[in-house]
Parts: sequence; C-alpha cells; structure tokens
Amino acid sequence: MANEIVFSQNHIPGIRGIDVYLENGGYRSVKKALEMTPAEVIAEVKDSGLRGRGGAGFPTGMKWSFVPQNTGKPHYLVCNADESEPGTFKDRELMEVNPHQLLEGMIVACHAIGANRAFIYVRGEYVGPLRVLNQAIEEAYARGWLGENIQGTGFDCHISLHPGAGAYICGEESALLDSLEGRRGLPRLKPPFPAVSGLYRSPTIINNVETLCNVPHIINNGAQWFRQWGTEKSPGTKIFSVSGHVRKPGNYEIPLGTPLMTLLNDYAGGIREGHTLKAIIPGGSSVPILPAEKCDINLDYESIQAAGSMLGSAGMIVMDDSTCMVWAARNLVHFYRHESCGKCTPCREGTDWMYKILNELEETGGRKEDIDLLLDITDNMDGKCFCPLGDTSIASVVSGIEHWRHEFEAHVENRGCPMRRREGAALEGAAAAG
Ligand SMILES: Cc1cc2nc3c(=O)[nH]c(=O)nc-3n(C[C@H](O)[C@H](O)[C@H](O)COP(=O)(O)O)c2cc1C
Ligand code: SF4
Repeated sequence: MANEIVFSQNHIPGIRGIDVYLENGGYRSVKKALEMTPAEVIAEVKDSGLRGRGGAGFPTGMKWSFVPQNTGKPHYLVCNADESEPGTFKDRELMEVNPHQLLEGMIVACHAIGANRAFIYVRGEYVGPLRVLNQAIEEAYARGWLGENIQGTGFDCHISLHPGAGAYICGEESALLDSLEGRRGLPRLKPPFPAVSGLYRSPTIINNVETLCNVPHIINNGAQWFRQWGTEKSPGTKIFSVSGHVRKPGNYEIPLGTPLMTLLNDYAGGIREGHTLKAIIPGGSSVPILPAEKCDINLDYESIQAAGSMLGSAGMIVMDDSTCMVWAARNLVHFYRHESCGKCTPCREGTDWMYKILNELEETGGRKEDIDLLLDITDNMDGKCFCPLGDTSIASVVSGIEHWRHEFEAHVENRGCPMRRREGAALEGAAAAG
C-alpha cells in the first residue's frame, strides 16, 4: 500500500460515498488548484512527468498545454472510460471503488484547460461503474463540488456520463468524439488533433481514467512527491491488470520500473501449479508477445520497448506452457477482425484474411506457404492502416511467428493443432474480462 497512489484509498470502507471521501481529504486539490492559475496547474503536472495511462503514454501536462487560448470556442474535457482492450480491467476498479477521485481529477483538469463542461465516455457494458458514477455525480452536485460557482470560487464545472455503444474502436479518441456527438464511432483524420479541434470542433482534451485519477495527488503533494516512484522518464506508479495462467489474477498498482518477475511472482502469485511460463503480453492485446526468456525486464515504457514490446494499457496476459501460440494468435486476431470498423481496406481485409489463415492452420493445418503469406499480409498492414487498431492487430501474428515459427510449422505437418489440451484458456478469460 505504501507504493499506491490511485488505489491508496481503496481499503477505506465507504470511500465510494462523498461524506467518507471528504473526511479523508477529498476535493482538497480542487480548492488548491483553483487558487493557482491554469498555467501553474499545467506546470505542476508537466513537472511530475505524468504520462497518459490510456496506452500511448503521451505526457499529460504537455497535452494540456496544446489547448489554444482565445479561440472564442468553448473547451471540453473528455474522460476516456471505454476500456475495451482484452486483458485490461483497471479503470473499472478505479470508477467502482473510488469514483470521487476521478471527478476531483476532472475538475482540476477542467480548470487547467479552461473548460466548464466535461464528459465521461464509459464502456456501455460497464453497468456497475455507470451506476456508481451516476450516484457520485449527483452527490457532487448536491454538495456544491459540481455545478455553477463551485464552493463559491466563481468556477463552473459540469460533468455528464455517456455510455458507449459496445465497440472497441470507440476507445480511440477521435472515434470516441464521433460517438459522443451522436454518430457511429469512426476514427477521424489527424491532424488536427482533438486538443485543437475535438468535440463539436472545439478544443478538447481526452484523458484516460487512471491519468485523471493521478491528478489530485500531484496537485496536493507536488511534482517531486510523485517522482519518488518510477524512473526518470516513466515516473509514478501504474496499475497492471494481470490475467491468464497466474494464481492470483487482478489489478496491482506498483511503481513503474518494477521488475516484471516481481509483479508476476510476488503480486500475481506466480504461474499456476505444475506449469512453467511460456509468454507474456505486457500491455494489453495490441502489443507484441514476449517469450519467457525476454521477460527479465523492468516495467517501464522504455525497458519494455527495448525488449520488443510496449507498456500500452498495461493489461498483462500471462500464458504458460499449455498455450498453443497459433491458437493464441487466432483468438486475438478474431477480436480485431470483429472490431475492425471497416473504414479502410488494409485493416478490413487484412484482419479477415489473417483470421481465415490462422483458423485453417489451427483446424486443418493449412499450407506451409501460409506462414510467409501471413507475414506478407502483416507487412502490407503495418503503418498503412487509417488508425492504430489495424496497425496493432498484427502484433500477435508477427511476434508469434518470430518467436514460435516452429509451432506454426508443426501445425502444417500435423494437419492441425498438435497440442491436445488447452486448459486455462488464458486469452479467452482475458477477452471476457476486458
Ligand atoms: C483502438 C483503440 C482503442 C483505445 N481504447 C482506449 C480506451 O478504452 N481507453 C483509453 O483511455 N484509451 C484508449 N485508447 C487510446 C486513446 O486513443 C487515447 O490515446 C487516450 O484515451 C488518451 O488518454 P491519456 O493521454 O490519458 O492516455 C485507444 C486507442 C485505440 C487506437
Ligand atoms: S484501421 Fe481498422 S479500425 Fe481503424 S479505420 Fe481502418 S478499418 Fe477502421
């Protein structure tokens, strides 16, 4: 617990309600931030080095500073609570257990970027978090922490909930904006970036739930306090959602830079009885798979990238020696094929084609040349898709063939999957959780 920031109050009974939240120092950062200028708030967040926790890891303070001033248009803040990536389930816990922490971070962020209206775009299937947030928002309005002239400060701040429509693409920030405006969620061409032209073509900042939950703590305690955790380039803590073949799956908040094996063994209880570690996807389903021998690394943005993968949303999917890597790739590509919005050809056709080949390999063995054909397809998708969904859908195929080509070949020789048992079904479990 000593190493927790956004989960630090989770053990307090009743923290979900505004009275207990206020008794435990809640909304203090709003008062403090409103006595600071927006530029001072942005400078504090910049100095903390906080990086966006939604996947891309972009510096939060810098993003906030991109909002143009004096355009005459309203500014908006949007909290991205879509959380649909297989293996990722951290924002759900943040919203369900301590909803006022998120609202507090949002009010501070609104002040920083000059916005009086904010939206929380919540994954539609998250019925529990929607209920909890709805109640928290009502409480905050009733107690004068939201609405006109909050706490007599002269600052107006309104927050509305918007349930999503069940599409992974709506977590991509520009598609999210289309969906929020009432259209089918399809990605927009960038630039212009949302900070300049976002919701209703007005300056808009989009931040992940975990990112915004860190903000009150940074304002209350200062940038240097935040930097006591993590590394120079990846400061603070991070919630890792661990799923798959571990003894204790769950959300764990740990300092960035912690060894991967510490998370796996000390927190997640290690690999299940009688098995050994085979592979880990460190950052949600859209990043390359790391074989066990490459898992002796630290969990920060730079170290994971150096090992050949990415931190992403930090949904860690763990696979033991019972996992067939063709089966795993097929499962993941099945998800992307289903979620491809169809706007651009490389992703729409590529995800479908990859799935058909992987399915054939798994079921009947396919042809030897299919393995190189798969690589050819991924090559024709990489960097050629309209949005990151298509580009990332190839991760499991490329890394799967790179590290386990012999398994793909064994499927051809065996005329189908040579592994009889598929207990655990790590990826199915992760997909269900995500
Ligand atoms: C297909 C796709 C799905 C995404 N889903 C989410 C999501 O559910 N939640 C999220 O915060 N970011 C998601 N992102 C990243 C957002 O586009 C965006 O970078 C993020 O919300 C910015 O917040 P941050 O700077 O606080 O990380 C997704 C990106 C892509 C390409
Ligand atoms: S890459 Fe896929 S999800 Fe993104 S625009 Fe193209 S078809 Fe749609």
